[in-house]
Amino acid sequence: MTATDRPNTRKLHVMTHGCQMNVYDSARMADLLRPLGYTTVDAPEGADMVILNTCHIRERAEEKVFSLLGRWRKLKEEQGGNMMIAVTGCVAQAEGEVLLKRAPFVDIVVGPQAYHRLPELIAQAHRKTGAVIDTDFPIDQKFDHLPDDAAPQGVVSYLSIQEGCDKFCSFCVVPYTRGAESSRPVASVLAEARRMAATGAREIAVLGQNVNAYHGEGPDGTIWGLARLLDAMAEIKGVERLRYTTSHPNDMADDLIAAHGTNPKLLPFLHLPVQSGSDKILRAMNRKHTADDFRRIVERLRTARPDIALSSDFITGHPGETDADFAATMALIRETGFALAYSFTYSPRPGTPAAGLPQLDAALKDERLYELQAELRLQQNAFNEAQVGKTLPVLFTGIGRYPGQLAARTPYLQPVAIEHDADLTGQVCRAKITHANPNSLLATLSDKERLAA
Ligand code: SAH
Ligand code: SF4
Ligand code: F3S
Repeated sequence: MTATDRPNTRKLHVMTHGCQMNVYDSARMADLLRPLGYTTVDAPEGADMVILNTCHIRERAEEKVFSLLGRWRKLKEEQGGNMMIAVTGCVAQAEGEVLLKRAPFVDIVVGPQAYHRLPELIAQAHRKTGAVIDTDFPIDQKFDHLPDDAAPQGVVSYLSIQEGCDKFCSFCVVPYTRGAESSRPVASVLAEARRMAATGAREIAVLGQNVNAYHGEGPDGTIWGLARLLDAMAEIKGVERLRYTTSHPNDMADDLIAAHGTNPKLLPFLHLPVQSGSDKILRAMNRKHTADDFRRIVERLRTARPDIALSSDFITGHPGETDADFAATMALIRETGFALAYSFTYSPRPGTPAAGLPQLDAALKDERLYELQAELRLQQNAFNEAQVGKTLPVLFTGIGRYPGQLAARTPYLQPVAIEHDADLTGQVCRAKITHANPNSLLATLSDKERLAA
C-alpha cells in the first residue's frame, strides 16, 4: 500500500486572507497537520478539514469571512457533515464567541498565537459535539512547538521572526488580535533560515507586524536587533537576497539604516508605512512621529543606499482629517516618490480608539483615496519606466506565463519576464530591462554568469 492510498490520508484545504504573516501561519498549520495524515488540496470540495485563516484589519476583510463560511456550510451539509471547519487568524481572535454565534456550524476557533495546539483541538472537536475555542495568548511561544520539517516555500520564502504589536495606533486592531510584541530567539530564526536555504530559498523576507522592533535573544545571551540578525542571515550559504517587512518609522534604528549600505544581501527596497503626511493626523493616529521625522529617515536611507526604492501605506479619511490634512499627505507623497504603495479608506474597527470618534463621510474618504491612488499610480509607472535601459540583477523564480519565458524579479520586487530556453530557477543573473508595463517588466539576459559569490 502506498502513502497516497493509506486509509488515514485526509484532505486539508487552507484558505488564507490578510497579510504575509497569515500566509506564513497557514503554511505552518499545514506542516503541523501533515504528520496526522493530512495532505493539502486546492479546493474545499471533498476535504475532510478546511481552515479559514482570517484577517480583521478592515471591515471588508471581515465580511469576506462570513460569505465564505456560508459557502462552506453548504459544502459541509452536502458531505453529510463530514467536514471539520476551523477558523483561525485575527477574526478568530477578535470575534471568537460572536463568530460561533453567527456561524454555529464552525467546529474550531483558534487565535493566531495558539494554532500550534491544533492537533489537540482537532482531537477535542472529534470527541465533543459543540465547538472548541482557543483564543489564549499562551506563554509558550508557538514557534517552539512547530515542527522543523516545514514544506519548502520556494525561491522566495517568508519567515516570521516577530509577532504582535505594542504601538496601539488609533485605527488598528493588530495589537488586540496578535497580542504583545515578542521576538523569536536568534538561534530559532537562523535554524529556519538555514533549512529554507538548503531547500531552495534564495530570497528570504523576514516578517513581523513591527519587524524592525525585533529584539531577539542571541545565542550569547545578549539581545540582537534586526540589523545584526540580517548580517548573520547574509552569511548563510545559498541566501542571495534579504528583506524585511513591515516596519515602523520609529524603529528605524541607526544600525538598521546603516545596514542598507553595508549588508550586501539586503535589497534596495523598503516598505515603510507612513499613513498620513499631516502632523495633526499622525498625532491623532498615535503614530508618535511627525511627517518631517519620516522625511529625515528617507533622506538617511537614501544617503546609505542611493538606489533604494520605497513603498508605503496610506489611510484616507481618518477621523478629524480636513482638506488641509489631506493636502499635506499629497505633498509628502509628491516630495518623497514611491515605487509602490498600498492605500485604504479609513475603516472603523470595533474596540479601537478612532472608531469612537465622529466619522467622515464615506464619499469624501473615497474621493481622497481616488486622488491619492491616481498620484501613486503615476509614481509607480514612472518608477517602472525608469528601469528601462538599466541592467539589474534579477532572481529567477520559475517558468513564465508564456512558453519560452522565465519569471524573475528585480531587486525592487517587480515581476520581470525574460525569454530563455534553459531553466534558471534560483539563479541571480544580470538582465537588461527592455520594456515596462504598469505591473511588470520585460528584460533580456545580458550576462549568464551568476552574480552571487
Ligand atoms: N504594522 C504595520 C501595518 C499594519 S496593517 C504598520 O505599522 O504600518 C497594514 C496597513 O493597513 C496599515 O499600514 C494601514 O495603512 C492599514 N490599516 C490598518 N488599519 C486600518 C483601518 N482601520 N482602516 C484602514 N486601513 C487600515
Ligand atoms: Fe497597527 Fe500601528 Fe501596530 Fe502597525 S504599528 S500593527 S498600524 S498598531
Ligand atoms: Fe490582517 Fe491580522 Fe495580518 S488583521 S493584516 S491578518 S495581522
